[in-house]
Amino acid sequence: MEKFGVIPGIDQKVSRIFFGCAIRPMNLGEDAGTLLDAALENGINAFDTARVYGSSENSLGNWIRSRGVRDRIVLLTKGGHPAFHPENPADPITRRISREEIRKDLETSLLALGVDTIDIYLLHRDDTSVPAEEIAGWMDELVKEGRVRAIGGSNWTHQRIQAARDYALAHGMTPFTVSSPHFSLAETAADLYGDHCVTLTGSENAQARKWYRENPVAVLSFASLSQGFFSGRWKADDFCRADSPLKPEFIKAFGCEKNLTRLERVRKLAAEKGCTVSQLALRWGFSQGMDLFTAVGSTSPERMLENWKALDIPLSAEEAEWLSAD
Ligand SMILES: NC(=O)c1ccc[n+]([C@@H]2O[C@H](COP(=O)([O-])OP(=O)(O)OC[C@H]3O[C@@H](n4cnc5c(N)ncnc54)[C@H](OP(=O)(O)O)[C@@H]3O)[C@@H](O)[C@H]2O)c1
Repeated sequence: MEKFGVIPGIDQKVSRIFFGCAIRPMNLGEDAGTLLDAALENGINAFDTARVYGSSENSLGNWIRSRGVRDRIVLLTKGGHPAFHPENPADPITRRISREEIRKDLETSLLALGVDTIDIYLLHRDDTSVPAEEIAGWMDELVKEGRVRAIGGSNWTHQRIQAARDYALAHGMTPFTVSSPHFSLAETAADLYGDHCVTLTGSENAQARKWYRENPVAVLSFASLSQGFFSGRWKADDFCRADSPLKPEFIKAFGCEKNLTRLERVRKLAAEKGCTVSQLALRWGFSQGMDLFTAVGSTSPERMLENWKALDIPLSAEEAEWLSAD
């Protein structure tokens, strides 16, 4: 399949796999040059980071500066994440979707990354008490000022994305063209990363997937390997044994019967195709008819290359349907 896509406002082709920069060494602000060099050399030119990924933006920014690669990459960051106060159960979350907070986050991201412009700027969470129309206007201002090129939301429902788009299009503004929800072959009912993460998995989200098939909005899925559920390290049995090495919260998020059946199907078909479990799980996402990109995190250059090569694997409609059958 075609390994690059087009996102309006971005003047270069965008790799369907984004390097997910929420990995431990980058969160700690460490040098990730070996990993990032290997990704770019092999063709992965898009990078997904966020204001709240510890020092990930600094780590990425240091690499961009030291290699002089700003013009060769597509840079995505996210702002407007809520602040959490777990120590105060009466008021555990402060929402931060306001014109001022978004601008403050963007300026901090630009400084940390050491760049003048962000290619794709997403709001990391939504605040449904703020009209989507108002937010659309604030984001359009950032495009007009040349601070960002393409805009969108992460963990926004498709209805809110649509409301923001409708308003922007009716008022001659730049519409949201990117949405970043969770999507993977394994379904999850759990709120994966806390605070209302939006997922496209499951029959209850069929309408959302249909909307994305019918509207010109790119989907940048995250946790498409289900946080390592499809790493190839685990078998269904590992989720069921009393002495399971897996963390209880991981078992709770992914260890339902439906997912375990899918995991075993992926293992079987991957063995037949001579590819890895991760590759086949990633490849499945691209068979679902949406304009899909996916952010994948790995601390290994070899595994990241393996992820990139997943797009070369042939997968028929029948095989894809079998993998996700209930
Ligand atoms: N917008 C949002 O709210 C949001 C939320 C979460 C994440 N994200 C983005 O999505 C990215 C990925 O998310 P994630 O890390 O949570 O989940 P993920 O990509 O589903 O899973 C990452 C895990 O898979 C392993 N892995 C990666 N490639 C592999 C391969 N080829 N073979 C075997 N194992 C492999 C990694 O281990 P190794 O390091 O050992 O390879 C890591 O443990 C993040 O870095 C971030 O950029 C966005």
